[in-house]
Amino acid sequence: MLKNIDVNEIEKAISARTWAIVPIHYAGVPSDMDRILEIAKAYQIFVIADAAQGVMSRYKGRALGSIRDIGAFSFHETKNLHCGEGGALLMARQAIFKKRMELWNFYGEQFRDLADQGRIELPFIPTYAMLNAHIYYIKVRDLPERTRLIAYAKERGVCLVFHYVPLHSSEAGRKFGTFVGEDKYTTKDSERLIRLPLYYSLSTAEQLKVVDVIHSFFKPSLRVNIGSWERKSASASTKSLLFCYIVSSFNQNLLNA
Ligand SMILES: Cc1ncc(COP(=O)(O)O)c(C=O)c1O
Repeated sequence: MLKNIDVNEIEKAISARTWAIVPIHYAGVPSDMDRILEIAKAYQIFVIADAAQGVMSRYKGRALGSIRDIGAFSFHETKNLHCGEGGALLMARQAIFKKRMELWNFYGEQFRDLADQGRIELPFIPTYAMLNAHIYYIKVRDLPERTRLIAYAKERGVCLVFHYVPLHSSEAGRKFGTFVGEDKYTTKDSERLIRLPLYYSLSTAEQLKVVDVIHSFFKPSLRVNIGSWERKSASASTKSLLFCYIVSSFNQNLLNA
C-alpha cells in the first residue's frame, strides 16, 4: 500500500484556513500528483511538495519537487544527496522573480540621472547576461562618501548596507590565499559599493523613499522634483508597479503567476 497522503481524504480536511496541500513522497515513491493538483486547483490553494526523499524520483516523467508551487528537498545525512545540514527549495512560480525584476529596473531608471552626472555608478550588466535581480547596488566615490550616505539614510529610516569584504583581506584569505596581479578594483570597489533594499514585499512608497533619500543626499534640491514627479508624472513602469501593488495580495499574486 502507498505510504503517502490518501487523496480521498484531502477534501474533508480542507477548511477556509487551508492554504496548501503538503504531500510527502515517502521513500521516494510519488504521491498521486494529478489528483492533488486537481484538488488544489478546485480550492485555489498551493501545493508544497515535501520532496525531502524524492531527489531523482519521477512522477509520470516529471521530477519530484518540480511539479507545482514549491518543492522542498532535504540534504540530511540519510538522503541521496547530503551535506550534513542543508536543503533546497524549488519554486515553480515566477511572481517573486518578476517583482524583484520590477524593483531592480525601477532603481535603474531612478538613478540614471545621478549616474549620467558621474555622481554614482550603476550595476554593469554584460549583454550576454539575463538577470535574477538578486542585488541592486550603486557605487559611490569612496569610503568616506559611502559612510556618510549610509549614516544619512539611516537617520531618515532607510537601511543601506555595504557589501562585501574582499576574500583576500578576510582572515582566511590572508592565511590561505594570495592576490594574483594588481589589486586595481577589488578593494576599491568593496569600499564604494552600497546595496539597496530589494525584497518581495518592498512597497512602492518604501522604494520611492529609498530613491528620494539617495537623491537628496547628492542633490538636496532634487527632493522636491521627486515629490512632484511622484504626484504628476509617474512613468509607465511606476504606474504598472503601483497597479501590481494594489491589485495583488501576496497569495493572489503567487496563484496567478
Ligand atoms: C519526508 C521528510 N521531510 C522532511 C525531512 C526533514 O529534512 P531536514 O532534516 O533536512 O530538515 C525529512 C528528513 O528526514 C524527511 O524525510
